[in-house]
Parts: sequence; structure tokens; C-alpha cells
Amino acid sequence: MMKKSIYTLLLLLGSASVPGSVKSDEFDEFHRDNDEISLISCTHDAAPRFGKRICDCGYRNEQYTVPQFEGSTTEIEIANCKTLRIRRDTFSALFQLTKLTIVNVEDLILESNSLDFSRNDRSAQLKIFLTNDVIEEVSSHLISGHVAEVTFLRCRIGVFRPYSITSIREQLESMNILRSFVNRIERHAFKRFDVSQLTIEESKFIAPIPSQSFYEIEVINRFVISNCSFYAVLPSGFVMKNVTNFLLRYNEFEKLSGDSMNMQIRNSIRIVGNYFNKIDPVAFRSTSLDSSYYSRHSEKPTLLFHNNRISYLEDARSLSFSNEFNIELREIYIEQNIDCGETSALKQTSLLMNHSNYVFFGSKGSFQSLNDIRQIRCMEDSFWLHLTIGVIVSSLVLVVVALLIFWYCVSQKRKKRQLNIVVPEPRTYRETQIVMQIENHGLLKTDL
Ligand SMILES: *[C@@H]1O[C@H](CO)[C@@H](O)[C@H](O)[C@H]1NC(C)=O
Ligand SMILES: *[C@@H]1O[C@H](CO)[C@@H](O)[C@H](O)[C@H]1NC(C)=O
Repeated sequence: MMKKSIYTLLLLLGSASVPGSVKSDEFDEFHRDNDEISLISCTHDAAPRFGKRICDCGYRNEQYTVPQFEGSTTEIEIANCKTLRIRRDTFSALFQLTKLTIVNVEDLILESNSLDFSRNDRSAQLKIFLTNDVIEEVSSHLISGHVAEVTFLRCRIGVFRPYSITSIREQLESMNILRSFVNRIERHAFKRFDVSQLTIEESKFIAPIPSQSFYEIEVINRFVISNCSFYAVLPSGFVMKNVTNFLLRYNEFEKLSGDSMNMQIRNSIRIVGNYFNKIDPVAFRSTSLDSSYYSRHSEKPTLLFHNNRISYLEDARSLSFSNEFNIELREIYIEQNIDCGETSALKQTSLLMNHSNYVFFGSKGSFQSLNDIRQIRCMEDSFWLHLTIGVIVSSLVLVVVALLIFWYCVSQKRKKRQLNIVVPEPRTYRETQIVMQIENHGLLKTDL
């Protein structure tokens, strides 16, 4: 489903003339021939929204730049450009802008600080939508001032530089990355801001998320990562504080290495329906409980880990979580075969052992619960063991019996042979002498 939508997105963007990347020398060149820049023309929207400006490039093959706006503008929509540059002073005079939409731009160049709304009134609750754009580089310090919402929707993004989204004044209502394709995020790209809702949905991140990419972000209400695919999240990829509710749902992770999800939870955490190809047993270990939890609750919170599939659980098939939570494991499928000996090697106290009815091992199509494996496979093993022992013992008995029979026969034969020996009749010495004399006399008699 998600793959399909990313594919559609790529198709959608496929026709765009995307340069390989915006290198700094190309960047300078652009500055040098600044005199030739063409400003996109913006028209007033008809009443009743007189404060709205619509700027349309009409997909003309030109490099457009957005003009500076006057203070009274309340809404801006910029659309349908091949190449569009936004300079740093573009929006800085605005004080009542409520909505900025930049849509269908095949090469959107955002200078550092180009989304500066420091004069905009906080009560305007400005929402920024970047929709269906190709942005090679989200530069450092892109956004500042009073902003209520930032949404990247169906965007293709080359790189989020360090401090792309940082220190936004006051609290953001929501920050969203939706149905987008992100090549790279650099360390500290998202840093130190408070947001009520942070949502990353149906997006694909093809390079590893380095350590501290999301750093010290406080999520007042909900942090949702859903239907995304990640190549890898490196240790401490997410370092968040005070995340009230965290939901990690229907994502694919090629690899979660080290303690990648480092965050304090204020209220609830659910990890549901994900696929982890390789997962480090400590991936979630530094997901802990915020110390303020017990001032509001008296019982340990439950960490739901439901319906997750794991291809390869590194290191002795363990999985560990902070013991500040009651861990509830349900329907965990681990695509590894495990034999009876290995199940007995699992510690009796280990998490998997404690949920042996809900943890399944095996390969596609045939999974068995850890419990069944222990009962059936170990029983099979002992059946074969008993059979082997039986066979050995009975053959030993047979051999012994055969030996006994053989020995009996041999001894019987020997007895018989002893009986056949002719024993001379016992005679005394005297008798013998007489016999000899008689024999001799006899002889003499015949000789005569
Ligand atoms: C996310 O994925 C789930 C499961 O594959 C699917 O049921 C759901 O519709 C998806 N959500 C969105 C917003 O696409
Ligand atoms: C989290 O927020 C609560 C209330 O807003 C606060 O009391 C607590 O100190 C915060 N914790 C951290 C680590 O910032």
C-alpha cells in the first residue's frame, strides 16, 4: 500500500527536471546573475478574501523568484513552477499571514531563513503547507517566528540540513511529514522545539537516520510515526523528551540499531503492526518514563508491543524494555527457527519466556508459539531420546542373552567331551603287578 503510493509519487515527480543536487558553486552562480531574475507575478484573489495572493508560474520554463509581500497579506498560494527561489526577506514584513501554500514546484530552492515570520502575529496561527514539491535541500534555520503548523505533503526532499527546523518561537501546533520521500536527514536537523502533534506518515526515508536527527523535541500531545519505511535508525536517532503519547504503527524498519528510540514518555506508548528486519535487543530500552508520571498516576503504565514481525533478532533472541513499564507482548512473530535446546537456553525470566503464548517462532506460513515449541518440540526430542535409549538398551540385553546362550552351549559340549574320556580302572600297585605277571606268563606259555 505504502510502497505503491511512494511509487505513484515517484511517477508523479518523475517528469520533473530534478538536478542531481544543489552544489554550493551552482548556488553562487545563481547569486551572481541575480539581475536577470524574473519575479513571479501574484494576483489578488477576488473578494471576499482580498488579503489573499495567488502566484502561478504556469509551468513556464523560467527560474522564478518570489517577490516580497506587503504587510496586509493574509494568505499566499504559490503554484505550478519549474524552478522557484524563495529569498530570505520574502515574508519578513508580514504580520497577519494565516496560510502559506507552495504547491507543485519541481525545484524549490529555499534559502536559509527564507521562512522567517518573526513579525507575524502569534494570533494569526500561521500554517505552512509545502505540497507536491521537490526540495533538494531544506537549509539550516529555514523557519523562524510564530508558526502554528508546518506540513510537508507529497514532497521529495534531498536533505534536511542541521537545524532545518529548530527553535521555532512559541509552540508549534503541528509538524507533519506526510506521503513524502526523504533522502537524507542530517544530525540535529530537527532540534529543540515544542510541538503539540508530530506526525510522520506514509513516508520513505532511504538513508540511515543518524544519531540525534530528532533532538530534544518535546511533544505535548501525540507523536505518531505510521506507515513509513526506514532504511535504518542509528543509535539515538530519535532523542525526544516528554512525549505524552507515542504511537509507532505499521512501519517497516530495515534496521534499528542500538538504542534508537531514546525518549521519555509522559502517558502512553504503543508499538503496533511494525516490521523490523533487524532489531537490536536494546532498540527501545532507552524509551523510559518521564519522572512527572507518578504525580498524575499511581500505577505503572503499560507498553503495548503488539503484532510486530521481526526477521532477525540480534543477540540471543532477547528483547528488552525499560522496567518502568508493564510490557504487554501480543502476537510477536520472529522469523527464526528455534529448537528445544535453544528455548531452554532462554532465561526463565526473559520477556519472551514470560509471554511464551504470544511469541511465535518459525518461517513464513508456519509459526509456532514459544510455548508449543517447548512442549511439542521438546517432547519430540525426548521421544527420540527415549527411543534411542530403548533401542540401545534392548540391543545390549539381546547381546547379553546371546552371550549367555553361547556360553551355556559351549559349556554343555565341554561337559559331554569330558564324559567320553576312557578312564582306566583303578587298580592298586599290587594288582597291577599281578596282571603284569599273568600277562608275562601267558606270553611265556605261548612262546613255548
Ligand atoms: C497503514 O497501513 C495499514 C496496514 O497496512 C493500513 O490498514 C492503513 O490503511 C494504512 N494507513 C494509511 C493512512 O495508509
Ligand atoms: C515534562 O513536562 C512536565 C509537565 O509539562 C514537566 O513537569 C517535566 O519537568 C517535563 N520533563 C522534562 C524532562 O522536561
